[in-house]
Parts: sequence; C-alpha cells; structure tokens
Amino acid sequence: MCGIAGYLGPKTADSVLIVALERLKYRGYDSAGMAVMSEGEIHLRKAAGKLKHLADKLEAQPLSGHCGIAHTRWATHGPPTEANSHPHLSTDGRVAVVHNGIIENHEPLRRALKDQGGIFVSETDTEVIPQLISTLYRAGGDPLAAVRAAVARLEGSFAFAVVFADQPRRIIAVRQGSPLIIGKGKAYDPAEPNREGRTEVFTKGGSTAARELMIASDAPALLPHAQQVCFLEDGHLADLSDAGVAISTFAGVPVEAKFKPIEVTAEAVSKGSFDSFMAKEIAEQPTVLARLLESRLRTGASGVEIVEPDLGLDLKAVNHVVFLAAGTSWHAALLGKRFLEQLARIHVEVDISSEYRYRNPVASGGTLVVAISQSGETADTLAGLRLARAKFIPVVALVNVVTSTIARESNGVMPLLAGPEIGVASTKAYTAQVLALYLFALQVAKAKGLLTPEAEQQAIAAARALPEQVAATLRETEEEVCEAADLFASAQATVFLGRGGEHPTALEGALKLKEIAYVHAIGYPAGEFKHGPIALVTSHLPVVCMVPKDAMYEKMLSNLQEVRARSGRIITVGQKDDQHLRDLSDHLFGVRQAHDDLLQPILSVLPLQRYAYHVARRRDCDVDQPRNLAKSVTVE
Ligand code: M6R
Repeated sequence: MCGIAGYLGPKTADSVLIVALERLKYRGYDSAGMAVMSEGEIHLRKAAGKLKHLADKLEAQPLSGHCGIAHTRWATHGPPTEANSHPHLSTDGRVAVVHNGIIENHEPLRRALKDQGGIFVSETDTEVIPQLISTLYRAGGDPLAAVRAAVARLEGSFAFAVVFADQPRRIIAVRQGSPLIIGKGKAYDPAEPNREGRTEVFTKGGSTAARELMIASDAPALLPHAQQVCFLEDGHLADLSDAGVAISTFAGVPVEAKFKPIEVTAEAVSKGSFDSFMAKEIAEQPTVLARLLESRLRTGASGVEIVEPDLGLDLKAVNHVVFLAAGTSWHAALLGKRFLEQLARIHVEVDISSEYRYRNPVASGGTLVVAISQSGETADTLAGLRLARAKFIPVVALVNVVTSTIARESNGVMPLLAGPEIGVASTKAYTAQVLALYLFALQVAKAKGLLTPEAEQQAIAAARALPEQVAATLRETEEEVCEAADLFASAQATVFLGRGGEHPTALEGALKLKEIAYVHAIGYPAGEFKHGPIALVTSHLPVVCMVPKDAMYEKMLSNLQEVRARSGRIITVGQKDDQHLRDLSDHLFGVRQAHDDLLQPILSVLPLQRYAYHVARRRDCDVDQPRNLAKSVTVE
C-alpha cells in the first residue's frame, strides 16, 4: 500500500527521500512523487510506473531544498497516472500532501471545496486534504490549527504529511488508522544549510539543538539517517521543525514524544549477495526457525522445556480459539487449528479477517482470539481484533513486526523474530508462523496437563531438527525444482493437491505461484478434487501432489493415480527416497521427513516457494514487487 516519507535536516531532501522511497517500494506501488521546499515555493516531481522514472527525473532536474515529503502510491481512487500520484497540491500551490489510506467522505468534501473555487486536477480522494487545509489556513493563518480543523472533517483511515510553502522547514504528520513513524538522526546546525554537495552531511558534532528528522510509513525507510524512532498513535499529530518534534492529540493536548533506538539494520533490509529479497528470505529460513525456537526454550531443573509465553492469560482456561488472518497468514492459521486440536484438544475456528469483521461472532468465557499477521498492519485483521476486543474477548497477536498496530493493540504478543520480510511473497514469516503455532499449541497442551514430559521432549527434539532439515531440503530439491520450472514455466495453470496438514501447503503453493508468477493456480483438498475440479485435468496441466509419508499417504496415492489416469503432469512433494512415488511422478521434489508429522508442512512448502520463484524468473516477473500487490494491505 502507499508509502509516506518526509525529511527535514541538512542534507538535500531529494537524495534522502529517493532512498526512503526505494525502501518503501516493497509495500507495493505504481507511481511515486516528491515535494521539496525551496525559496518560498513547493517544487514537485512525479512519475507514473517504476521509481526509476522518478529517479531519472530528479537526476535531470534535481530539487535543491532540505525539507520535503515523498510518496509511493498504490492506486485506489483513479489509475496510476502522473496526475493521480502524490504529493497533491492545493489550488494555489501553497500546500502539499502525501497520504496513505482512504478518505471515505471525499466526494461531499470535493463538491463543497469546488463550490468554494477549488480546482481539482486528479481523481484521487487525497486531493481534498490539501484543498481543505489550504482553505482553513487562509482563513485562520495557523498551520497546526488548519490541519486539526481539516482532520475533524475527514472520515476514514489515514496517515498523511503536509507542508506549507510559507513554512519552509516544517512538516506536520497525522495518523488516524494507518501507520506512521518518526525518526530522529544526527544533530546539526540549522543555520548552515548544505547548498553544495547533494549528499554531504552537515553535522556539528552534536553541539547544536536541531536534529535530522524523518517520517515514514515503515522503519526501514528511515535508514540510515534515523537513530531513534517514535511510533505515532492514532488520533495524534506530530509537528516537525528545527525546534524538534511536538506531538499532540487532534484536540490539541500535548503528548510526550517517546523515542527509542531503531532496531532494524541497513543490512537486514538489503539483498546482500542475493538477486532478490525473496531468494534471500527463503534462504534465511534455517536461521529464522532456529532463532525462534531457541527463544521459546529454557533449560530448567528437568532439562530443556518450552517457555510459557508471557501473554497475561491463563492458558488453562482457554477452551475456544479463533484465528484471524489473511492470505499466507491464514494458511498458517489452518495449520494452527490442526496443532491445537491434536495437541490441546480444544475447539478452534479459523476465520478470514475480512469476513470475521462484518459478522457478529459469538464469544464464550474461554474464547481467545489469535490475530496472525506478518506485518501487524493488515487493515482487516486489525478491524477483527478491535471487534473482538469490543466484545471483551482477549486477543493475542502472532506478528513479525512487534512495533506494529496489531501488536500494540493486543493483550499479548508472540513475536516471530523473522527479521524484516521485504519480498511481497511471504516465505520466512510463513514457516516461522507455523513453528510458532506448533509451540503455542504445545504450551496450551502443557497448561492443560495434556503434554507429558516425554512428549514435550520429543516435540522439542523434532523442532530442533528442523533448521538442519530445512537447509538440507532447500539444497537437495533445487535441481529438480529448476528442471520442473523449465518444463512448466509456460503452463497456463497449475493445480496443487494436499490432504490434512498438506492442504494448507497446497493453498500456499498455489498462492505463491499466482502472486509472483501470474500463473492461474488453485490449491485444493485432494479428496474434494473429483467433485468438480478434476474436469480441468489435461495432458498440459501440471498437478502438484503433496505426498509425505503420513496417515494420508495411501489416500494421496489414489488421488495421484486419478490425475495420472487422465494424463495430468505429476509433480510430487514427498520423501526423497520414496522410489514408488518417484516412479509415479514426472518430477519428485524430495524433502526431508520431519520427526513429528505435524511439522512436515514446514519442509513440504520449501520446494514450492522455490518453484514459484523459478517459474516467475523464467516468465520475467519481478518476484519482489509483483504487479498490483502490496506487502501490507493497510486499506480494506
Ligand atoms: O502482514 P500479513 O501477514 O497480515 O499479510 C497478510 C497477507 O496480505 C499476506 O500474507 C499476503 O497474502 C502475502 N503476499 C502472501 O505471500
């Protein structure tokens, strides 16, 4: 979704902001723009399409100011044209705004502002914001008061930043429902602006009062300039100037700006030696799983044990869990249901967040909602969480971004510790979610007295074997995956079939292929296939069958035979030394066998992640930033 950035400091703003936009790209975008203040004017550069188009424009016509705002736009209202890209200006060109979110009452506002002489040049909902602020500013003369009065008239969920032509070193940032972070960097002397080199840093050894200030939708965009960050809360606005950061509520009550050291590193948000973030993140999985696991284990008097998470809850009293999630996180939730049912014997529902939020769910005393989200910002999951809390249902968040809104609004947090996930396709966060859910189910089982010490030790041993098994599986399946991708990259469609724990894997394999390779793909419960979709099978259709050696093995073989009998092309994911399966397959992605069947999906999904990646590459797709997609879906 849209990304916002802003900079105030000694460096040339365009050089800082273009890097910030580069780091926001992963959120998904289709145009970009920037506004920089100089000589009492707001200067704009905008470009439709890739960020490079904007960078080329800036190269040809640099902007020379030291304060500015910038934006990557993911189109909602109006196509991704230059006219619709942000920043948007007021009719007099004296106010500029970048915005993330949706202004729901933009139509009546637009009509009213037009009646007052406003001239609109875009189809966006955003354009009403600078027009409205400008009108109020001209009437009252106080920028902060104008922003507050404008916010009072806006409906929807949004974050925006505004600059005024006659306030050349000031940015006002507003948050109501969409994330916004403030960054603070090095000290410098504001009396000595840098008018020379485009990237030169002017600092005075920390002896002056002013500090470099930034805003962004996401922490990586603040790097490398910010050293400290402050998360703006809903209903708050921040006034950034050479005097520092002043935060207040929309009603004008001052709020303390709480800064803390930035945790994300520049290395964590770079590709390193990989050709894409997706490739890097797939390769990181052994490390991610090992880190997560060790964070949940403790060596006590009786040996290694699973640590009870500090969720502020009595897990023993939980008798009903509702998982809320979207996309890949929803697939992880489906596995969470299996784990909790099998290990803790409790009733579990798995809900798609966008459906749950508009129902009237029933809650009993022992209900717990678990919101699963890599980003922690998915609008529907957040809305579902708020609905649950309004019904006094406790909510635990399983998130990767622990500073996210979902984490902050939940009663307890289970962090994934996967590090920043930049590729739009979720990979390392997914396997971390599945392992975290397994550990959570064990904890609930333990709290209920359903986990014997022996069973706990076996589960720990099975989980501890995973990082090595993941590394081996990635290594050992690569050649076969590449061969299959060579063969099937031009296939029009692909079907993924699985049963039990491998049904979510089939869904996940299909989603990966759809989102990054643009191949029509469906994941289906294998037993359901003959109730309709089997009609799709021809000799051109690759059918990926998940056939680990588990309780469903024979059933899966029968389903595989049904596809074979209709000449479908068979790719299987199964045990690497399963010769029978190999004989039945056109291609076998031979994975390692988990020591606990419940954990097998973590291994089975790995070749499917790599398969989607290789097919996408062969189809010339941008694996990190697939068309139409956003990393965090912060609007409905
Ligand atoms: O950040 P979240 O886990 O809440 O995101 C949910 C989905 O938008 C996300 O998993 C999406 O489906 C991914 N692009 C899948 O790879």
